Amino acid sequence: MTTRRKKIYEGKAKILYEGPEPGTLIQYFKDDATAFNGEKKAQLEGKGVINNRISEYVMTRLNGIGVQNHFIRRLNLREQLIKEVEIIPLEVVVRNIAAGSIATRLGLPEGQALPRSIIEFYYKDDKLNDPMVSEEHITAFNWAATQEIDDMMATALRVNDYLSGLFSGVGITLVDFKIEFGRIYEGDFSRIILADEISPDSCRLWDSLTNEKLDKDRFRRDLGNVIESYTEVARRLGIMKEMPTVIQGGVH
Ligand code: TMP
Repeated sequence: MTTRRKKIYEGKAKILYEGPEPGTLIQYFKDDATAFNGEKKAQLEGKGVINNRISEYVMTRLNGIGVQNHFIRRLNLREQLIKEVEIIPLEVVVRNIAAGSIATRLGLPEGQALPRSIIEFYYKDDKLNDPMVSEEHITAFNWAATQEIDDMMATALRVNDYLSGLFSGVGITLVDFKIEFGRIYEGDFSRIILADEISPDSCRLWDSLTNEKLDKDRFRRDLGNVIESYTEVARRLGIMKEMPTVIQGGVH
């Protein structure tokens, strides 16, 4: 393991290290799983490896349709080289089907299709348990400018359209997902790109035929077979070829 480099930030599921060149970072995917703002914790052997690979795949495909993002290249099983961005302190959630917090908040049966795709913003603050906020809060507190909100919403909908199709092609329904954005500065200007990760930790993915959950809800709700389900998502996306031994343990 390479340990002699500077840790920039450690979150619940990932660590960011200083990158090899200015403007880059190394994103390391841990096996740690948390839910309910860290109240529930576990180590899921192999999760980091699978999420590194799935996020690489999804970000690469998104880049292919012009959705700019922080991914540069995968370095090894658990690490990827990314562009350093200034993270906007918002979680942008897109929902197609009622599940999770919207089902609870609005009393909707889980699985009910929403009238249209809905975008929500949450303020990233663990102490406050990531409260939902409106565009008014975002602009008033200067978390993002109006133009940036418009860009995030347009990108979120493009990501939703593209990923809905990508997953439906492999028999998976994209119920909802969470993305994050960061700013990149170029001279006096900044633009917003997609950052963080897109993986079964940050999406709800249901088998299209059975509605079986293939995402982090398996962990949140103690449904078992978490790694098996993440592996199934990777397998269906056609990216399992080089990681068959991960699940047995051995690889770190
Ligand atoms: P929610 O229904 O709990 O609000 O979650 C909506 C989506 O966002 C779901 O796909 C899971 C994802 N999510 C995260 O990635 N991180 C979080 O901290 C939370 C609460 C949800």
